[in-house]
Amino acid sequence: MTASTGAPAPEQREKWSGQTAFILAAVGSAVGLGNIWRFPGQAYESGGGAFMIPYLIALVTAGIPLLLLENGIGHRFRGSAPLALRRVHKRAEGVGWFQIAVSFVIGLYYTVVIAWAVSFFFFSFNLDYAEDPAGFFIGEYLQLGDEVKLGFDIVPGVMWPLLAIWAIAIIVLALGVHNGVERLNVVGIPLLVVTFIVLAVRAMMLDGAMDGIEALFTPDFSALADINVWIAAYGQVFFSLSLAYGVMITYASYRKKRSNMTAPAFVVAFGNCSFSLLAGFAVFGAIGFLAHEQGVSVAELDGLTGVSLSFITFPAVIAQMPGGPIFGAAFFASLVIAGLTSLISLLQTISAALQDKFGWHPRGSAVAVGLIMATLSVLGFSTTTGLYLLDTVDQWSNQLGIVAGAIGMVAAVMIARRGREIALHLSAVSTLGVGRAWRVLVVGVSLLLTYMLVRKTVELATQGYEGYPGEYLAVFGWGTAGFLVLIAIVLPLMPWHRAIAEFDAWPTEGQLEEAAAGAARKGGA
Ligand code: PFF
Repeated sequence: MTASTGAPAPEQREKWSGQTAFILAAVGSAVGLGNIWRFPGQAYESGGGAFMIPYLIALVTAGIPLLLLENGIGHRFRGSAPLALRRVHKRAEGVGWFQIAVSFVIGLYYTVVIAWAVSFFFFSFNLDYAEDPAGFFIGEYLQLGDEVKLGFDIVPGVMWPLLAIWAIAIIVLALGVHNGVERLNVVGIPLLVVTFIVLAVRAMMLDGAMDGIEALFTPDFSALADINVWIAAYGQVFFSLSLAYGVMITYASYRKKRSNMTAPAFVVAFGNCSFSLLAGFAVFGAIGFLAHEQGVSVAELDGLTGVSLSFITFPAVIAQMPGGPIFGAAFFASLVIAGLTSLISLLQTISAALQDKFGWHPRGSAVAVGLIMATLSVLGFSTTTGLYLLDTVDQWSNQLGIVAGAIGMVAAVMIARRGREIALHLSAVSTLGVGRAWRVLVVGVSLLLTYMLVRKTVELATQGYEGYPGEYLAVFGWGTAGFLVLIAIVLPLMPWHRAIAEFDAWPTEGQLEEAAAGAARKGGA
């Protein structure tokens, strides 16, 4: 497929050093804040042990099939999300930019939560939050205003760590895929896993730990009849596996041509799920201890979900346990490492898209993306009203945005009739093949996602969110959705710096057909 019109030779794409580096980077993206504070809280809230059923079903029916799809798109079409999807279908570039816009928006506030974790890492040494964890987090640290509005009163205690995170992120990105992103993950992920295992073991040894675990895992089967629990499970799997953000497409595009693309997807999915369970043990073991200390049952405790779980309830645990400062520092350090490796995947995805489209140098692109995002992130989110903005933007970008991005991606593949080609490609380069069942699942999932999208849109449109003022939601909630759509429309109108058709499709279509015919003769596939 290489054009011979005197166009510049196909550029050398950056590369991982090998399969392990790719797996660690993909795990680094998947394992993040979502595993540590979102999963345990979500599971507890949604039927406890019974949540594992929808969660595992979502993992097998949606998570793994879409991860394989993204691996296939990225590896076959060799590009960031807009480039790879443009090669899938002429009109699908916008879907790629939509995903990039979602990553952009999420990156703005994902960083802020990492910055809080940096602060709490330092607060842990003196247990600054011990006396009144809720008052400390909301009042003293965030200095949260009462009114839900946009304000620019910057809170220095949040801004400084936030700037530090941005500085680190820019440096890692500027070092490139191999020297920056890969190294961060190769060092960070093993360190994270070891630290977290130690934390979980320590938590399990606390008095009352078993009560916490029991509260998390005692099944409430009636929850299975609640459609919202299913939606939550699918949402959690998407967020957790970083699906439909363009991340896995981009990471797959940095693999060498002859690379196994299916087995690593299973490793990543399994590794991510195991880490979530580990986090469940660590967090709820510690919560059980808190209930025990206060002489109440776990069910009587407040703040077991969302942001309060990590930044209010967990500090309360740390303050009361023997060796609290070390445990606390290790917990928040884990949040920082897990968050940083995920953040880098988001930023690399954005930067790669700009490099592909405009021919920017990786370093320049990293610095430009970093500086623009850092500025917006500081102005929007490290203020006295930043938490409201975070909460609102998260609902629209994460609940609506990624679902829409996933549907668009599957639709593009279906309309271009490339499902079979991608399946054959994955099978040809990998040890484990994929077949018709995979394609059926991918289509089935997109129907389910469409239902979820409609339902959630109607819910937000009719019921608003958290009782926030209508104008505020119109500007920052629906405005976010508008921004995603705008980017998806405008960027495809800009010219590519190079001929986008230029890439070596390998294996060639002929080779794929031959392999398929060979497999059929043997009665396989
Ligand atoms: N998977 C990450 C987590 O569970 O925290 C969140 C995330 C990172 C989502 C990167 C999307 C992404 F591109």
